[in-house]
Amino acid sequence: MDKVLENRICLLIKEMTLEEKTGMIHGAGLFRTAGVERIHIPPLKMSDGPMGVRSEFVNDQWMPVGTPDDYVTYCPSNSAIAMTWNRKLARNAGKVLGEEARGRGKDVILAPGINIKRTPACGRNFEYISEDPRLTSELAVPIVRGIETSDVAACVKHFAMNNQETERLWVNVEADERTMREIYFPAFQAVVQKAGAKSIMGSYNLIRGTHVCENKDIMGTVLRKEWGFDGTIISDWGAVHTTKGTAEGPLDIEMSVTSDFDDYFLANPLISEIRKGHIDEACVDEKVRNILRMMVRLHMIELTEVPDSDGKKKILVQKNKNRKAGSYNTAKHRFEVLKVARESITLLKNEDRKLPLDPAIDKVLVIGQNAVISQAMGGGSAEIKALYEITPLLGISKFLGGNCEVRYARGYDIPAKKESDHNWQEDSLDASKAAAETAKETEDSARLRKEAVELAKEYKHVIYVGGLNHDQDLEGQDRADLTLPYGQDRLITELLEVRPDMTIVMLAGSPVSMKPWADRAKAIVWMSYSGMEGGTALAEVLFGAVNPSGKLAETLPEEIPECFRKEAYFPGRPLTDEEKKHMNAHLTQTYAEGIFVGYRYYEKNRIPVQFCFGHGLSYTDFTYDNLKIEEIPSKARANGFDVQLQVRNVGALEGKETVQLYLGEKTVSPENPVKELKAFEKICLRPRETKTVLLKITMEDFMHYDEAAGTWRLKHGDYRIYVGSSLQDIQLTQDITI
Ligand code: BGC
Repeated sequence: MDKVLENRICLLIKEMTLEEKTGMIHGAGLFRTAGVERIHIPPLKMSDGPMGVRSEFVNDQWMPVGTPDDYVTYCPSNSAIAMTWNRKLARNAGKVLGEEARGRGKDVILAPGINIKRTPACGRNFEYISEDPRLTSELAVPIVRGIETSDVAACVKHFAMNNQETERLWVNVEADERTMREIYFPAFQAVVQKAGAKSIMGSYNLIRGTHVCENKDIMGTVLRKEWGFDGTIISDWGAVHTTKGTAEGPLDIEMSVTSDFDDYFLANPLISEIRKGHIDEACVDEKVRNILRMMVRLHMIELTEVPDSDGKKKILVQKNKNRKAGSYNTAKHRFEVLKVARESITLLKNEDRKLPLDPAIDKVLVIGQNAVISQAMGGGSAEIKALYEITPLLGISKFLGGNCEVRYARGYDIPAKKESDHNWQEDSLDASKAAAETAKETEDSARLRKEAVELAKEYKHVIYVGGLNHDQDLEGQDRADLTLPYGQDRLITELLEVRPDMTIVMLAGSPVSMKPWADRAKAIVWMSYSGMEGGTALAEVLFGAVNPSGKLAETLPEEIPECFRKEAYFPGRPLTDEEKKHMNAHLTQTYAEGIFVGYRYYEKNRIPVQFCFGHGLSYTDFTYDNLKIEEIPSKARANGFDVQLQVRNVGALEGKETVQLYLGEKTVSPENPVKELKAFEKICLRPRETKTVLLKITMEDFMHYDEAAGTWRLKHGDYRIYVGSSLQDIQLTQDITI
């Protein structure tokens, strides 16, 4: 702690009136707080979001200002960044976002979203990284560091246990301590302790009966005390429900979706409670302290000590002239997001090596709406006013050039959505209820299907680009099932009958079921919302200019797991009479599956999946050899292990491989997962090149949280180390005894 700074902040706060201080702790606009003009404290300016800096909004209305200078670089979603398994690219993606935010004059960027993907049906999964806490942490840390290099705070969201959209404001989460510590907390802890994240967003939901934004256990004991977080905690928009509870709790800034800023819980109602003596003003001081500390760290302001006319010390607030200026829409940013997009594209299936396609073909048919629709302007608060967006069709056409005839057919229809009188943002808080039904085939779709199938007969090369869009991958709603919308299953099945070699590209932010046709398909490519250059990257991969190296960051199951199909578990059960007495909630959601989330669940219950966690093919082949495990020497006890192995590229093309290390008990006990990701490294190998890969595991990696003792515990016994190319493609194993 910087004592000089803390002293100056204290002195400054003493000079401020209650009104001035209160202005700093609640929204005075939809995306800003009030500054204190008298003493030159600027307002805090915030913006969404995860896929680029959102367009400018009118201060008190959910209406875009409509200026022409808020077009930005459209960055890949976290679901895309995650599939790169590349820490350096994650950092660069964060850096682009931070620079753009600063370039647009922002102080806080409301990103990244790092909630664990508990169910494949969650509407916001595209904003999140993974179902696995280690992969999430390893990528979230560089994203946050990247953002914050530009004197902008990352507001990491949504802490904590915000894993469904259904009733997101009113769902009470009940999870045991081990589950929270092992699955849902680690990434947040990592961004606080390893990346030094400057702000955290408090989520909408309740945990164990109390809304997170006033939950002293979660925000106070865990975040502030245990993890030592001294940055700013900002509420999600409309997540605060009381004055006293919130004022006396660890949250610093209340933000919301309505324009009655003076009536926010931490505005006039708070001033009045303090004046009546019901709340101690020191609560406000504590919040202002956290905000000022962040402002100094962001180089927004500097505090200097000057003597006043009585010779007493006075604090002068000045603009810090050295603050980085940022930049947006630079050529470098576009190149960086292209690099991420390239490595995010994941080759799921390539029977008979159908891919890559020959770039010298003279005609190709592209089918499917995801080949042409722009995705940037969707997804809820993740929407972006992109400078441009290279769609898959545009990417393919520009890659192939003028000698190839590229024909396009829609294949299915996306029914227009009903126009709402309100803005999405205002509606979303009420609308976060029902799971969205899978959109069915319309009459138009049936006609488009027939047309596409007829056309496919004429074209030897057919590329299908379908999947989901932001009507499904959307904030404020979950999906009812994993079925592809708009009758795509039937369309793909019929197309495969006439073109069994067809390349299928699934563009989606969360899993879809491919069960009706995956067995028959020869080439399947998976991609997510991969930013403004997504179409360029896709074409490069399909035609072999780029060797794919993406790996799934989440399991692609055949359907929503059994445990989420019972109402009691998802979306939740009605409150009991007892709960109603002390809870401001609509549902209780019990995380009955505990730590068995994602692949931990499928492995434990031996449920076959379509494509497993960590899966992703290359156009070249790799072999794994020479596994050596050595204890890291230490005087007292083993510090961990160095795991070394050799990977060789035995194919004819340069390629990248992500070597994954999983750890499990040799004889798996029912309370533990079969195996868990503990380390990974992405390497690039030229043809016939061999590289030695070093993966480190620490003793902490062997530990599980002991609920009864309230601490992490190491169980002695035999463990198995698995190294491979995916969760299921394990190439080398070795047992060790602890
Ligand atoms: C979302 C946040 C977002 C905020 C501001 C909320 O509805 O949950 O992720 O940052 O709105 O747009």
